[in-house]
Parts: sequence; structure tokens; C-alpha cells
Amino acid sequence: MRKIIVAIDGHSSTGKSTVAKRLAKALGYVFIDTGAMYRAVTLYALQNGFVSEGKLNAQKLTAALPSIELKFKTNTDTGKSEMYLNGKNVEGEIRSMEVSKYVSPVATIKEVREKLVAQQQKMGLEKGIVMDGRDIGTVVFPDAELKIYMTASAEIRAQRRYQELLGRGENVSYDEVLKNVQDRDRIDSTRETSPLKKAEDAIEFDNSELGMEEQFEKILDLARQKIDLQGFQNLEGLKP
Ligand code: DC
Repeated sequence: MRKIIVAIDGHSSTGKSTVAKRLAKALGYVFIDTGAMYRAVTLYALQNGFVSEGKLNAQKLTAALPSIELKFKTNTDTGKSEMYLNGKNVEGEIRSMEVSKYVSPVATIKEVREKLVAQQQKMGLEKGIVMDGRDIGTVVFPDAELKIYMTASAEIRAQRRYQELLGRGENVSYDEVLKNVQDRDRIDSTRETSPLKKAEDAIEFDNSELGMEEQFEKILDLARQKIDLQGFQNLEGLKP
């Protein structure tokens, strides 16, 4: 059966990764969380002193880009894909509030985006991939067969993220998380290079109201329709 590319974009904490992960599992596809890649570059910037007094030194980070190697590896115990930065597992560290604070400014840097987008496009060469991010349907795979755009109110998203951080033992307040969500929305949507926006042919899901389960079933249905349609088109192509 021919494989497709599924692009899932949208604001932070809309449940994109959860849906993308489940969808990849159901279809037997590879799942790629591109946010993890931007987060790993941010962690590198923090670890190497490129952030001081709350300011990111974009020039230093750009110069260091050739020394940053990012890889996804599957954890054999959990079956989950995890992020490695220069050979070290950083899956836990990249989800911290500190990384969340600086990841949007890092993601505005053109050279960072060029490096990561090129790597993402390579991952999709053989299709059979579900990728989530901000620019997947618009920049990384403008020809993706299925594009989903997920959104929800900032308050609902902050509440989800707050619970997640508390669950991981981080000492944060709801207000701090809400501010971070709103700040990232603003920076991600207004940056010059590849701002977050809905691709014209993307299907929008607002999950402020819609339950996660219902939403997943709908997206799975859409993916199956696209895959069947592709198979049908291929058969048509074989007709004399
Ligand atoms: O999905 P996430 O919240 O883990 O993403 C972290 C940040 O990375 C987000 O604020 C914007 C940026 N990002 C991006 O600019 N482009 C992507 N394809 C994925 C993430």
C-alpha cells in the first residue's frame, strides 16, 4: 500500500503530539515531534552559555550549529521515540520550563530553521510519516496528503501544560504557564521565517470543546480515506 505524509500543525499544548503519536501507531507510521528538535537546540544554547541575563545570543548559536547533532531513537522499554543531543538522551530536560522559555526565540532564527527543516524533509523522503510542529504543512511538506491544524483556547492549553509540569514535579504556577503559552503563541505566529499559520488546505480542529477521543477518531478516519484514495489513484494509473 502506498504511504502518505500527515502534517499536524498548531499552537503549543493543543495535544498535537498525543494525536500524532497515536495516529502513527495506528497506521504503522513513523512519528516525529519537531518541537523536540527546536527544544534540543535551545537546551544546547542554555548549556553552552548562549543565554545570559535572559537574552539569547543568536550569533553564537548560529555559529555553533554545525556542532549540534540531533537524533531520535526508540526507547526499547517503552517503545517511545526520544530525543538525543550529541549522543545524549535529553528527552526529560527539553520539556523543562527553562527550555520552554527560550525555545520560541531560538525558533525565530533562520539558520536554525534551515538546518532542522532540511533534516525533517529527509525523514519524510519515504513517506509513511506523521510529523507535528508549526510549519509542517506550510514549509516542510507543502505537498503532504493530509494536513491537520489544531487549536484550543490559551487557558485550556495552559491548564493541560500546568498539569503535565506538576506531574513531572516542576514547581510552577498556572499564571506562569499561561503567560508562557501566550508569549509563545505571539512569537510563533508573528516571526518572520515560517510563522505558525494554517495551511490553506489544512483541516482545522478546535479541541477546546471536542473530546480528544472523538478528535482522534475523526483524524484517523481522514487519514484512512486519503490512504485508500491514494491506492485507488495508483490502480487507476495502472489501467491500460
Ligand atoms: O511543540 P512544542 O511546544 O514542543 O514546540 C516548542 C517550540 O518550538 C514552539 O514554541 C515553536 C517551535 N517550533 C517551531 O517553530 N516549528 C516547529 N515545526 C516546531 C516547533
